[in-house]
Amino acid sequence: MTATPRAFVIGQPITHSRSPLLHGHWLETLGLPGSYERVEVAPERLAEFVSGLRQAGFVGGNVTVPHKTGVLALVDELDDAARTIGAVNTLWFEGDRLWGGNTDAIGFLSALDQEAPGWDEEARVATVIGAGGAARAIVYGLLQRGLDVWLVNRSRGTAEALSQSFARLPSVHDLDALPGLLSDTDLLVNTTALGMTGKPPLVLDLAGLKPGSTVCDIVYAPLETDLLRQARAGCHPAVGGLGMLMHQAVPGFARWFGRVPEVTPALRATLEADLARR
Ligand SMILES: NC(=O)c1ccc[n+]([C@@H]2O[C@H](COP(=O)([O-])OP(=O)(O)OC[C@H]3O[C@@H](n4cnc5c(N)ncnc54)[C@H](OP(=O)(O)O)[C@@H]3O)[C@@H](O)[C@H]2O)c1
Repeated sequence: MTATPRAFVIGQPITHSRSPLLHGHWLETLGLPGSYERVEVAPERLAEFVSGLRQAGFVGGNVTVPHKTGVLALVDELDDAARTIGAVNTLWFEGDRLWGGNTDAIGFLSALDQEAPGWDEEARVATVIGAGGAARAIVYGLLQRGLDVWLVNRSRGTAEALSQSFARLPSVHDLDALPGLLSDTDLLVNTTALGMTGKPPLVLDLAGLKPGSTVCDIVYAPLETDLLRQARAGCHPAVGGLGMLMHQAVPGFARWFGRVPEVTPALRATLEADLARR
């Protein structure tokens, strides 16, 4: 008898994770046997948890803060995205080998493709605000799509370090240079937490943004940030952060449970209802 596939998300703390809701929705709507559970793992127990995955009956899972970099050294193989981004968010087995991958870039690009179809047809320059973990994945994805990346960050050193991770170097700019970059920007992405509930707003006037360019804010709480509101008011295609959250989960689910799930309005509604509750 084949065991029912079990997957997990590990982090500390882990109670906030919406991944169980997401994967639970797909398991239920696709009628598949399987489970997906939250597991709180302290950093000092990470190696023990990862080495015991098979024995515990897990087929794989997700990795979140603070383990995304710690897990890099604990897997047998890394995919190109995880190696270049320097962080793992998805684990799975291929035969006896434990793989670590990063699906944030594909999640980000898939969300844009679904919500702003054709966004990259004429696009040459992407301006990315922020140089943290999420920015690393997004820059990786945008460079793979062939865009030039302009990286704008409060701390120049962090942005320069990020830039050096890539063969085709993104150019680095200070925050006060941002308004001057807008007229040549085809895609503007906020990857900072600015604009998130409880954080300061992202103060930026989009009046000078190139007409027709796309605006993406990966913040998803609130669903509609000031940046997105301003973009819509200026007739720019505007994409929020919930799409990235949903799409980054697709490759892991497909590997663990054997079906490629779809990002549907029903899934979005489920997550939006949860966001409205907490
Ligand atoms: N939609 C999704 O699926 C998804 C996925 C991942 C992350 N996110 C969201 O993305 C955001 C960033 O996550 P992360 O993991 O990349 O965080 P992170 O690694 O901590 O990076 C934060 C970035 O924001 C900048 N920043 C923070 N406070 C700032 C301020 N007051 N003024 C100017 N810049 C500021 C930091 O600049 P310095 O370098 O100067 O500190 C850094 O570039 C969070 O809101 C997170 O929820 C969404």
